[in-house]
Amino acid sequence: MADGTKEAKSSNQMWGGRFASGPAAIMEEINASIGFDKKLYAQDIRGSIAHATMLAEKGIISAEDKEKIVTGLNTILSEIDAGTFEFSRKLEDIHMNIEARLATLIGPAAGRLHTARSRNDQVALDFRLWVKEELVKTEAMLTGLIAAFLDRAEEHAETVMPGFTHLQTAQPVTFGHHCMAYVEMFGRDRARVRHAIDHMDESPIGAAALAGTGFPIDRHMTAKALGFREPTRNSIDTVSDRDFALEFLSVAAICAVHLSRLAEEIVIWSTPQFGFVRLSDAFSTGSSIMPQKKNPDAAELVRAKTGRINGSLVALLTIMKGLPLAYSKDMQEDKEQVFDAAENLELAIAAMTGMMRDMTIRVDRMRAAAGSGYSTATDLADWLVREAGLPFRDAHHATGHAVALAEQKSCELAELSLEELQAINPAITANVFDVLTVDASVASRTSFGGTAPAEVKKQIAYWRARN
Ligand code: ARG
Repeated sequence: MADGTKEAKSSNQMWGGRFASGPAAIMEEINASIGFDKKLYAQDIRGSIAHATMLAEKGIISAEDKEKIVTGLNTILSEIDAGTFEFSRKLEDIHMNIEARLATLIGPAAGRLHTARSRNDQVALDFRLWVKEELVKTEAMLTGLIAAFLDRAEEHAETVMPGFTHLQTAQPVTFGHHCMAYVEMFGRDRARVRHAIDHMDESPIGAAALAGTGFPIDRHMTAKALGFREPTRNSIDTVSDRDFALEFLSVAAICAVHLSRLAEEIVIWSTPQFGFVRLSDAFSTGSSIMPQKKNPDAAELVRAKTGRINGSLVALLTIMKGLPLAYSKDMQEDKEQVFDAAENLELAIAAMTGMMRDMTIRVDRMRAAAGSGYSTATDLADWLVREAGLPFRDAHHATGHAVALAEQKSCELAELSLEELQAINPAITANVFDVLTVDASVASRTSFGGTAPAEVKKQIAYWRARN
């Protein structure tokens, strides 16, 4: 066939006992999920082996049939791994592709595998296993990203830069402190990942179509064999629940938003106007027409990936919102959203980890910018409170006058003379100049979680111990 799938037995032959004719071509097209759910083959086979093993243990199928089934499934696993397995769209999805092949390989015993099981609990199991594995991978990738930030923070615990609010120069901070802000963000993402893993750690298999089964199955046995904490507790909920996918997408969307904010900062920082960082050649591109350009494409693409990841979350929320219990075929549309989000989140985390490790921090440019824009105005106001006993509001007002004067003279606050400052408030003494430098400003902010290098180093040590 044009799509590379072979003409084979159709799924209709497997479930179509009461059907007089096969599906319309368009029905086959809209119904088939093999194009994307083939990704679940390893999980499907693992689930089937656990199920068959339990069926045999409980005397529901014979040990002999179980052996045939397990051997056949392992053969299929190697065929798919080797790329020699022929997927067929006529067989709808991964579950039936594998079952049909099993029948070819082992004969009638294959038909016993689906005892006490439905594709509804089967797909819930396969997808849950896949999402769980993806979350474990995401957790490790976030640990790598956090490690990159910790290294940069340690290196630049004393590097001063302007801190911004409204993207206007606010107060001097250290680049190490700024890096540690991202450590907190990605640390929260990782905690959400761990929580999601914990949340979904229940086995769906054995819920059957929706009502459970009359066969004497042991769901605790399959749960254990498949690495779940316990089986799910309500068979109706089990086959209609996609919270695990929604949680994955929520976690991914929040993490993507964090990555996008970082990407935006890198785009800004790497402009010639800011010049705070120089991107490595490995993570930038040139322009085909403007030879001087070095573009932060990787950062821009990370920023853009957020759109599709957030889109996937909204798509699945919308798919699920009107569904009556229990399973509806709508739910087949869950997978592409999750697969796409997973693939792109992995790319975005990897690109950011590389960019953060590779980029050159232009300490001189950061320092120059840190001292401009009256960034130590708050330090002057604080000095007036501390040393001259002014109420903060009055100190704020006096400092405002000093900034206005400096602006008028096109100079920095520290460049105003003592006489000029005393004209604004006579209580000001020469000591004030000690707090008007960026280093003094930064070093003074020793409150817990503050930007002082000593404090930042404490936070780095805390995270090193946790990472
Ligand atoms: N391919 C289906 C899916 O992804 C499997 C479950 C089919 N269940 C059913 N009752 N038709 O949702």
